[in-house]
Amino acid sequence: MSKIIVKSLKYKYPLTEALALNGLTFQIERGEFIGIIGRNGAGKSTLCAALSGLVPHFFKGAYGGSILIDGINVKESKLSDIARKVGIVFQNPFTQMTGAKDSVTEELAFGMENLAIPKTEMVRRIDDALRLLEIENLRDKNPFELSGGQMQRVAIASILVMLPEVIVLDEPTSQLDPQGTEEVFKAIKRLSNQGMTIIMVEHKTEKIAEYADRVMLLDQGQIVAFDPPAKLFSLSNLEERGVRPPVFTRVAKGLDIHDQVGLYPVTLESTVNEVQKVYESH
Ligand SMILES: Nc1ncnc2c1ncn2[C@@H]1O[C@H](COP(=O)(O)OP(=O)(O)O)[C@@H](O)[C@H]1O
Ligand SMILES: [Mg+2]
Repeated sequence: MSKIIVKSLKYKYPLTEALALNGLTFQIERGEFIGIIGRNGAGKSTLCAALSGLVPHFFKGAYGGSILIDGINVKESKLSDIARKVGIVFQNPFTQMTGAKDSVTEELAFGMENLAIPKTEMVRRIDDALRLLEIENLRDKNPFELSGGQMQRVAIASILVMLPEVIVLDEPTSQLDPQGTEEVFKAIKRLSNQGMTIIMVEHKTEKIAEYADRVMLLDQGQIVAFDPPAKLFSLSNLEERGVRPPVFTRVAKGLDIHDQVGLYPVTLESTVNEVQKVYESH
């Protein structure tokens, strides 16, 4: 069975007219890295909230359809039970910090202390998370003295120590510089390689094209397309949907450089490959 099964999901915030999510049906397999793109107001954050149970358990409103995660129905389950399966990381790592801890290690221990997890197990999980996110050197630092990319990785580590099977990230790199962005993407890729299911809202389409297995394009609370990056970014009407394809794809479209089935390259590597083929054929 798929990791996540969503059927006819509809949702409307209280006191609003329009549906924020308007009939979403899709499945995500264990270990997939999914990118979510779409213009402002498309419903990306609302979908993240629905996958992590904040909709409808925190944000009330009208809810229809279903989300099953590992067989548990999000609507019928307690938020604390959903949180054990799905971790959520927000845009601004500041909001994710407790603000009460003097070191990264204490910050990471916080959520586990609330669950009364034994000390040795806590230490093991913290060590694993620090290693996986390549922030072992930060363990004694004050969380608020870190760079953006470092702080966001601490935020991800604080989710990771709870051992979720799915991590949902809502624009985790939008406040980061290119280096911080790269650090976060590399770290998330490592989690994905370990079999964790990743769902990430992200505007940087170059990065999504490089890292995601499939990309979901949302508009007006509906799925426009849900395909591998090369297929999705080869669609012709993306700008009208508020999405800027990767720079490589825009150049290749301009030069009409595509593969045998008409798909445009979406990464630097695939662009170089296609250009080489053009030269070799002359
Ligand atoms: N807390 C809220 N209360 C009422 N409406 C909301 C709330 N959050 C988002 N919306 C509305 O839901 C729709 C989807 O928003 P959102 O999921 O935030 O889009 P995105 O993350 O793609 O920018 C928009 O029309 C937005 O105005
Ligand atoms: Mg949003």
